Amino acid sequence: MNLDGLPVSDRLPSKASGLEGVVVADTRLSHVDGERGELIIAGSRAEDLALSESGHFETVVERLFELGSNAPQADVRERLALARLSAFSSLDRLTTALVLPDAMDSLLAATAQGVAGGDALTVLGALPVYVAARARLRAGQTAIAPDATRSTATDFMAMLGLAENPARARSLDAYLMTVSDHGLNASTFATRVVASTGSDVMPCILAGLAALKGPLHGGAPGPVLDMLDATTNSEPRVWLEGELASGRRIMGMGHRIYRVRDPRAFVFERALARLEREDREPSTIAARIAHARRVEHAAEAVLRERHPDRPLCANVEFYTALLLEAVGIPRELFTATFAVGRSAGWLAHIEEQRHTGRLIRPAARYVGQLPD
Ligand code: COA
Repeated sequence: MNLDGLPVSDRLPSKASGLEGVVVADTRLSHVDGERGELIIAGSRAEDLALSESGHFETVVERLFELGSNAPQADVRERLALARLSAFSSLDRLTTALVLPDAMDSLLAATAQGVAGGDALTVLGALPVYVAARARLRAGQTAIAPDATRSTATDFMAMLGLAENPARARSLDAYLMTVSDHGLNASTFATRVVASTGSDVMPCILAGLAALKGPLHGGAPGPVLDMLDATTNSEPRVWLEGELASGRRIMGMGHRIYRVRDPRAFVFERALARLEREDREPSTIAARIAHARRVEHAAEAVLRERHPDRPLCANVEFYTALLLEAVGIPRELFTATFAVGRSAGWLAHIEEQRHTGRLIRPAARYVGQLPD
């Protein structure tokens, strides 16, 4: 194939399949070291942030926003609480969006209608309100109003109708902090592409939500739980081989960047162990973790046999499934809960893109017909 008589390969750099290894931005927000299995968010190791005694999601939001906008951020917790109240007061306008059967479709529709013209914290505060309100309405219940004195994690659980439980709220905080940012993953990239065109906040977030919904990105943890359920009373290897033979991927395994086990899997295992120690309710966490490890090891072995040159290990979604289950979040809300956490990173990236970036516009190699 050639254009103007020149082989295409002479006129464009070679294609990076799936943009693998291509650097398109400088960021101060997070760093992913795929060889060593390290994740730094806003200057701290993910495990130090997530498992600290005093940290909350709001702490990370504040730090990410300061880095993204290069400006101090005051009263983040209060402003997020006000944003939740404001989102709740406008739920009446969103009745069509809030009854959609898919939680992510609903979140996309509610965000598009509900926060048009809103700033970053307005959007960030609104998302947990939409997720919780839809879950309640779909179950034939009334939406529960937010409480401005609570943190995002505690209030999200309360709005879902879950009983107050500080140990579980701490675990949810650990989850939200850990997933708040992760380099230029697909949804963050999508968000930055839209921000690079000069668009406003809401459409940028819609791009992030749309990308996150896919099973190769944020849609995996529900199917991970299905896999754990399906293998509880059977030999995991048999089930895993059946999946691969049917042409399906093993959810929660493999990663574009990590060549070792995802560091967030370790963070979530530690958060689960802490929850088991602190939770007042009787729990099945220890048995669930033991089974998850069996399935993980079997999956690693099966994938190693098929891809000996490409290490395919557990990713964030594997233990997300267990952590969110232990917190009491219904599995159909796992991806939407991921969105609540990751939107902190998206919004900081939007600011960073606006301050430091340029229109993102890569090239494509034309391999179609030439006119006669
Ligand atoms: N199960 C089965 N095979 C897998 C696999 C998985 N989970 N992950 C990767 N592979 C295979 C691919 O089919 C590919 O095989 P091929 O070369 O014969 O075509 C090979 O390993 C390399 O994978 P590749 O598609 O190049 O990886 P990627 O970087 O494009 O994809 C993921 C990364 C995360 C999308 C991929 O590992 C995946 O689909 N995982 C399952 C979904 C998931 O857990 N998503 C959450 C990510 S945090």
